[in-house]
Amino acid sequence: MAIQWFPGHMAKARRQVTEKLKLIDVVIELVDARVPQSSRNPMVDEITEGKPRLIVLNKADMADPVVTDAWLRALKRDDVEVVAVDAKHSKGLKQLMSGAEKLMQEKHDRMREKGRNPGPIRALIIGIPNVGKSTLINRLAGRNIAVTGDRPGVTKRQQWIKMKGGEMELLDTPGILWPKFEDQMVGYRLAATGAIKDDILNLDDIALYATRELSARYPEQLKERFKIDQLPEDAVELLELIGKKRGLVSGGYVDFEKASELLLNELRHEKIGRVSLETPADHDMA
Ligand code: G4P
Repeated sequence: MAIQWFPGHMAKARRQVTEKLKLIDVVIELVDARVPQSSRNPMVDEITEGKPRLIVLNKADMADPVVTDAWLRALKRDDVEVVAVDAKHSKGLKQLMSGAEKLMQEKHDRMREKGRNPGPIRALIIGIPNVGKSTLINRLAGRNIAVTGDRPGVTKRQQWIKMKGGEMELLDTPGILWPKFEDQMVGYRLAATGAIKDDILNLDDIALYATRELSARYPEQLKERFKIDQLPEDAVELLELIGKKRGLVSGGYVDFEKASELLLNELRHEKIGRVSLETPADHDMA
């Protein structure tokens, strides 16, 4: 799903999230483990200020595990826990639960000392489109729930979804935030991983960006996948060679568009292996 964000949409989304924050104990911020910084809303710190936050690096099954470990360390703060999850295959859900419990521990201990029962942790899942919010809600609930975003003009009563073990309750409408496109690289990273539709940016440009990144970060995986001994330095040449290797040639020329589609398809479906397109070091966070 690609949503075009206008200032009005942004203000509304922000208002909706702010309203929900009043009802909850913990914010679960979902990001894509392959591009954790680009797949988050840059204003999330400000929007959720004062609430304990659990950052979930989702789709960890597709990301480079070494880079994911580096992100787990880089994003950790006193009031922020970070976990890596593969919601699609229900992996990491126990760690997610312990992360939320850790964030609430002091408060819950104090309540218990006063003889009060803290009850289940109430949480809200937030994140940009396509990071896996619906998938995670379904897995945590242990059943399929029709998850929808907030619809304009429709006010519906907030429902709490009880988690399998009963330790946590989730609001049924996740908070949908907007990605920040002002930085062009963010757009490329989101497009390369398939989080936004190809028609927002030029397909050839996305493929060339992906070719450059893969060739710099994962040259061996690229060589192995496309049976190339030596990667040409120039991204256009490399993408042409990939097209040639796959027989995408007509009239003596490589079909650049087909080569672009092929590369992106292989990247998005993990055919080139597990890759991450940004590291904490890229953002001076290491
Ligand atoms: P959203 O609510 O945040 O918009 O995201 P949603 O759950 O709809 O997930 C978007 C896509 O990401 C879905 O793929 C979903 O299966 C996939 N996904 C979610 N979590 C994970 C994960 O941890 N690992 C992997 N590999 N994929 C994940 P889709 O292509 O739209 O649907 P489908 O092919 O799964 O049916």
